[in-house]
Amino acid sequence: MNDKPKAITVAALADLHVKDTPADSYRDLFKEISEAADVLVLAGDLTDLGKPKQAEHLAADLAACSIPVVAVLGNHDYEAGEADKLAAILEAAKVHLLDGQHVEIEGVGFVGVKGFAGGFGRFMLSSFGEPAIKAMVAEGIDQAMRLENAMRQVRADRAVVVLHYAPIVETVQGEPLEIYPFLGSSRLAETIDRFEVSAVVHGHAHRGAYQGKTSRGAPVYNVAAHIEKPTGRPYALLEI
Ligand SMILES: [Fe+2]
Ligand SMILES: [Fe+2]
Repeated sequence: MNDKPKAITVAALADLHVKDTPADSYRDLFKEISEAADVLVLAGDLTDLGKPKQAEHLAADLAACSIPVVAVLGNHDYEAGEADKLAAILEAAKVHLLDGQHVEIEGVGFVGVKGFAGGFGRFMLSSFGEPAIKAMVAEGIDQAMRLENAMRQVRADRAVVVLHYAPIVETVQGEPLEIYPFLGSSRLAETIDRFEVSAVVHGHAHRGAYQGKTSRGAPVYNVAAHIEKPTGRPYALLEI
């Protein structure tokens, strides 16, 4: 008897940056993904400027997707100050939009938070000096705590973490060194490494690298649409 649970295929993609008048619809891509995978994960920057109209375009295209969709918002989705409206539009389109929660699909727990900037390793921004710097560090810590609380809720024995910001430096390599601290934070990886995690996906670093791992060995994938992937397509396919 084989107790190993049946693997599922997760398609992961980030940084669609849907515009007011989309040059190309994602319908065909979502149809293709529905044939290739069991779940679609969208790791933030769903819209270009966070406008409800842009989310409506994406929601219309998602009608072509016949598999469950899990998503987090990215920094661009906050630009217009209408993240709540975006969330309502996407939830009406049956997207499991995560912001410190999890959802279990086919025996896999998907945990999502946006994450935040702050830098990596011993060069992380620390809570020192002006209130504005302390507020920035506090936001990064808050995101890591939201991730931790959501991880504790997972009952499935496989977990996929969905972020927008990078949890490790490896998958931002390729970007200008000067902007690394704005692309993610190791605080996220420190939290991830307290749990058993099958895979971590993120976006945000459009010019980063596809693959890396946390210090404890959890595989991390930068699935920004611009990144070259083994599929040769804008999305990654991960067996979980
Ligand atoms: Fe982006
Ligand atoms: Fe971003």
